Amino acid sequence: MGRPGFSPAGRSFGGGGRGGGGRGGFGDRGGRGGRGGFGDRGGRGGRGGFGDRGGRGGRGGFGGRGGGRGFGDRGGRGGRGARGGRGGMRGGRTVVVEPHRHQGVFIARGKEDALVTLNMVPGEAVYGEKRISTEIGETKTEYRTWNPFRSKLAAAILGGVDQIHMKPGSKVLYLGAASGTTVSHVSDIVGPEGLVYAVEFSHRSGRDLINVAKKRTNIIPIIEDARHPHKYRMLMGMVDVIFADVAQPDQARIVAINAHNFLKDKGHIVISIKANCIDSTAEPEAVFADEVNKLKAEKIKPTEQLTLEPYERDHAVVVGMYRPPPKK
Ligand SMILES: C[S@@+](CC[C@H](N)C(=O)[O-])C[C@H]1O[C@@H](n2cnc3c(N)ncnc32)[C@H](O)[C@@H]1O
Repeated sequence: MGRPGFSPAGRSFGGGGRGGGGRGGFGDRGGRGGRGGFGDRGGRGGRGGFGDRGGRGGRGGFGGRGGGRGFGDRGGRGGRGARGGRGGMRGGRTVVVEPHRHQGVFIARGKEDALVTLNMVPGEAVYGEKRISTEIGETKTEYRTWNPFRSKLAAAILGGVDQIHMKPGSKVLYLGAASGTTVSHVSDIVGPEGLVYAVEFSHRSGRDLINVAKKRTNIIPIIEDARHPHKYRMLMGMVDVIFADVAQPDQARIVAINAHNFLKDKGHIVISIKANCIDSTAEPEAVFADEVNKLKAEKIKPTEQLTLEPYERDHAVVVGMYRPPPKK
């Protein structure tokens, strides 16, 4: 099927060579990911693969940032199935949607596979992403495709991250929400019982974020600087997880100060680290190791680390637990 980079539901993930990002333990270097089945950086997306940033999307897959031709919006008629209905893609091809092993995340299996989330607002796209409809009996369901070249969380999932610590009902503090691209997928994952507090300090991006939140009642947009959590304390409850993608040199400190204010004990952090934002002269692995040490000093115990190749260069995602229980 030519999709070595895609990690399907319920299967164990291999090391970096199998597709997405490289994985590292603590103290270890995150290995570089092997090349996945998606379009490579700088190249053209292969047929049905994920096109590359700036490249041209292949037929039937994801484009890079511009969006390529992919799944059609209109679903065809579905059949019956326990794991997800059969829907249609453009041209009458069928697609089966299956749950991913991360609750709230799905894989649309058609001619090509795509990561998708269940659209909380059927009929609406957020940033021009493709939608896939399925039908089981009378029940219509709509999913939104999630492009790993536009979302570090999607890249981490396809890279085989073990835990995202977000599922239906979770309360998430999202730092660095930008226009709400990834936030909208987190909103789909946590669903109507969950909440996403989305912090973004750029007023320009914040306007788009507020518009996304108007239709998605589980997003609370907060247009503030994440360095000053006291400014939004009155809007917040305690959260299960903090996701951070602020691309700032003091990101570890920003995460820690928010954790000390809003993260429950034994809650989790999922943080995307862009090495050259922190130190463009050092080796990325050294930068990641430094950031991990800063997190440890703030009562955050790292549990997992992986690089985001081939979707992002010199980025790592680190997952950790806040105030873990003492060792017995
Ligand atoms: C890499 S972008 C985030 C992309 C976004 N996570 C997504 O996947 O759609 C980083 C964002 O963090 C925001 N940011 C940086 N520093 C911040 C801070 N101190 N407080 C709030 N937002 C911040 C930037 O304005 C920018 O929109």
